[in-house]
Amino acid sequence: MIHPVILCGGSGTRLWPASRKAYPKQFARLIGDSSLYQATLRRLTGPRFTRPLVMTNEDFRFLASQQAVSTGLSDAKVVVEPALRDTGPAILVAALMVAEEDGEDALMLVAPSDHIINDAEAFLQAVDAGATAAEGGALVTFGITPDRPETGYGYLELTRKPDGDGVAIPLASFREKPDEETAERFVAAGNYLWNGGIFLFRAKDVIAAFEANAPDLMAPARAALKDGKEDLNLFRLDAESYGDCPSISFDYAVMEKASNVTTVPLDCEWSDLGAWDALWQAERPDDDGLATRGPVTAIDCRDSYLRSESGGMRLVGLGLDGVVAVAMPDAVLVADKARTQEVKELVTTLREAN
Ligand code: GDD
Ligand code: MG
Repeated sequence: MIHPVILCGGSGTRLWPASRKAYPKQFARLIGDSSLYQATLRRLTGPRFTRPLVMTNEDFRFLASQQAVSTGLSDAKVVVEPALRDTGPAILVAALMVAEEDGEDALMLVAPSDHIINDAEAFLQAVDAGATAAEGGALVTFGITPDRPETGYGYLELTRKPDGDGVAIPLASFREKPDEETAERFVAAGNYLWNGGIFLFRAKDVIAAFEANAPDLMAPARAALKDGKEDLNLFRLDAESYGDCPSISFDYAVMEKASNVTTVPLDCEWSDLGAWDALWQAERPDDDGLATRGPVTAIDCRDSYLRSESGGMRLVGLGLDGVVAVAMPDAVLVADKARTQEVKELVTTLREAN
């Protein structure tokens, strides 16, 4: 059995105004009729999996529990991180918990809560291939074929080009968020895949990787667990000890440095819904490149995304080209579609102004 560990403590500011500080993108109904977090929970349910461990922070604990219950997973265990320390400490704590509950050989699958995966069958096949490699002691990553030199992802350098058989390939190196020039070189080389942000390993192997590569996390993470408080399906880590953990992502803390990493190529219509242009793509735009959601009228519009969640308020576009317009009840974004990555800075500016 595999222990699903779901990460849902991020804030996703590039999808403002649909993603908000108190209600970030993984909990919002961005696409379809449930949230990305709920879709993640559902994907990781079934005969292969135990009940999930949900890693989140104080602000989102209620949303995380409530949405798990409404997905039919009332036994999901929600672990509350008392401070924002990024994914490194969260994954270490999860590994320590899994080892304590089910022994150190237990397998765990770490999954972000803000992706879409359209082909669930292909995903599960990759998980099975990954489980075989993880049982042999590997830290397994899942690799997506890149289609652009994206700088917001990690890159997996494979020891050989993937040949489409879905079998795990040992890694030559892992490089988190390279600069543009390096990303271009990686994409051109052909033996690099994007890191899908999903990981599979035995609890003991990832704990050993933390001990070897990020030893300063060990003592505070162990103490946060030992002095934490259990309350039904909620576990609160001890605030003082967790606060002593350095803030670092798992990718930088462990994956860039570990040696026993392999990759299972993942071809499952994956998308990290990072910004509005990715959402436009996920909506399957028509032949003119137009995608809409909600009460929208678009006349002579192309290469655009028009979306209204504004309580029935109609959004009307005329002659638009390369525009993203998102109407929420209390805010409207109208942006150049080529500049949707900059929404993150825009949110910072807005916060400073208020
Ligand atoms: N519990 C918890 N605590 N979850 C967190 C925290 C935290 O402090 N910070 C972020 N998360 C969650 C986010 O909600 C998301 O689901 C997941 O962890 C990944 O965090 P991101 O901040 O979205 O990471 P990223 O997108 O920059 O990079 C990662 O994912 C890429 C693919 O989407 C890396 O693994 C990259 O290598 C990878 O390519
Ligand atoms: Mg992300």
